[in-house]
Amino acid sequence: MRNFDEATITDAVLQRVRAAKDDRIRQVSEALVRHMHAFVREIEPTQTEWEAGIDFLTRTGQMCDDKRHEFILLSDTLGVSMLVDAINHRTPEGATETTVLGPFYVQRAPEHPLGADISGTMEGAPLLVTGTVSAAGGKPLAGAVVDVWHSDNDGYYDVQQLDEIGDLAMRARFRTDENGRFWFWSIKPAAYPIPHDGPVGKMLEAQGRHPWRPAHVHFMIAAPGHQTLVTHVFAAGDPYLDSDVVFGVKDSLIREFAGMPAGTAVVGREMAQPYYHLNYDFGLKANSEARRTGERAA
Ligand code: BEZ
Ligand code: FE
Repeated sequence: MRNFDEATITDAVLQRVRAAKDDRIRQVSEALVRHMHAFVREIEPTQTEWEAGIDFLTRTGQMCDDKRHEFILLSDTLGVSMLVDAINHRTPEGATETTVLGPFYVQRAPEHPLGADISGTMEGAPLLVTGTVSAAGGKPLAGAVVDVWHSDNDGYYDVQQLDEIGDLAMRARFRTDENGRFWFWSIKPAAYPIPHDGPVGKMLEAQGRHPWRPAHVHFMIAAPGHQTLVTHVFAAGDPYLDSDVVFGVKDSLIREFAGMPAGTAVVGREMAQPYYHLNYDFGLKANSEARRTGERAA
């Protein structure tokens, strides 16, 4: 077959990718060709615009390494990450809603005892975080691993300033006690712009969008027999709740970072200065649900 033109090229490519032996690869390849050809037909790019598109993707790829994930940012800012998340977490009653992982998660963060202060050398308003982990609509889960990470009060994560601060901070893993409870101290995080000094930042600017996320604390919670939960809790009242650049905010994930006076905190620590208190009770889906929906189990 040869002499393809505007009218025949799409079917010709579809016919060729149908040779794929693997069913899923065939399905994905066909959909990719159909949608990309439809996109090009709708846009009708000039040759220069097509080259600019290739250059944008090339620069996005060139900005990916073990510290910077520009392609994940692209997926996040176009709402693709949240769409994938929504498809994979059709949440049953009682389970905590999910949201994007983001690029600042670090595997195997240091484990700390309950009640530890994980702020390291960072300065900021003290924040007490408390909560429980239970099976969705059911019993508390003892020994669940609660992985947490958040930004400082200028909106930067530890991994963005490791050269200056020298060590990980504002991130840790805890294990829930026999009643499924956890608690720790840190500093209050601030709203922050996602890294926008690369191609994704330029795209946001061209689209007339800001790069900000509302203040939040990330959680990844794992317990045997349950699906690992990836979510965050957002600060009530934050000005960016309705315009999060990665579309990650859900009402059920918003909580008050409540201002508390100096004195004895609920976990017994004597506080000489006022502090903030955030509480969230998490519900995890059972694995049987994971098998039905094709999700990854803990
Ligand atoms: C974050 O919350 O850490 C994040 C999520 C998506 C893109 C950039 C940052
Ligand atoms: Fe974040």
